[in-house]
Amino acid sequence: MPTPLAEHAEKLIRGRRAIRAFRPDPVPGETMRAIFALAGAAPSNSNTQPWRAEVVSGAARERLSDALLSAHTRRRLSVDFPYRDALYSETHQQRRKGFGEAMYGALGIGREDTEARDAHNAESLRFYGAPHVALVFAPSNADERMTADVGMYGQTLLLAMTAYGVASCPQGLLGFYGDAVRESLGVTGGKVLFGVSFGYACDSAPVNRVRTPRAGLGETTRFHE
Ligand SMILES: Cc1cc2nc3c(=O)[nH]c(=O)nc-3n(C[C@H](O)[C@H](O)[C@H](O)COP(=O)(O)O)c2cc1C
Repeated sequence: MPTPLAEHAEKLIRGRRAIRAFRPDPVPGETMRAIFALAGAAPSNSNTQPWRAEVVSGAARERLSDALLSAHTRRRLSVDFPYRDALYSETHQQRRKGFGEAMYGALGIGREDTEARDAHNAESLRFYGAPHVALVFAPSNADERMTADVGMYGQTLLLAMTAYGVASCPQGLLGFYGDAVRESLGVTGGKVLFGVSFGYACDSAPVNRVRTPRAGLGETTRFHE
């Protein structure tokens, strides 16, 4: 029998989605502390909790965004966890294509319009207008096991935000400029796995109406007896 929590879990987990247009109003400090404290309840291997979040707002957010855009414009990439298209199977690529079509369609950006797509990427380095961004770090020597722990923290963080009515967008792209992030924040160690832009959603933005489908249960899960 499901517990009374099942209904809330359905709403919470299915109610979260990536938001790409935010209002400028800030999240109160007390709410932010509650969210990040809750995120820290995530599970990890032997309870090591190998994550660290740098939460950036106000003038520090402006400086960070300028540093990211400057690195982006000068093509100064420092990808902490290298990305390779070849890692994705045909099925994964199909899903990515479907997502890209839905998102760029909502933005009114055509398939061949690389200029507009570049401009959208640049806008994402302004955190889609969100008043806050959390940079989520793994230790400098992190291997796949540690990044699994940090991923657990990431989803717990997104759900904690959803529970407090705060919208979010996880952004792997923010980890493509690790040196700019560390320099701007005065952080000496650690590698950026992803960032999370957060704040309150701009409900009128068509991009926030994008809905992403999921593979059927049978495609991802087998039950053995
Ligand atoms: C690790 C990770 C990295 C992501 N990187 C980006 C990104 O750089 N830019 C972006 O706009 N969305 C990014 N996303 C959001 C995904 O596109 C989004 O989660 C996915 O399409 C499913 O949609 P949903 O979150 O609305 O359910 C990322 C999500 C994850 C989990």
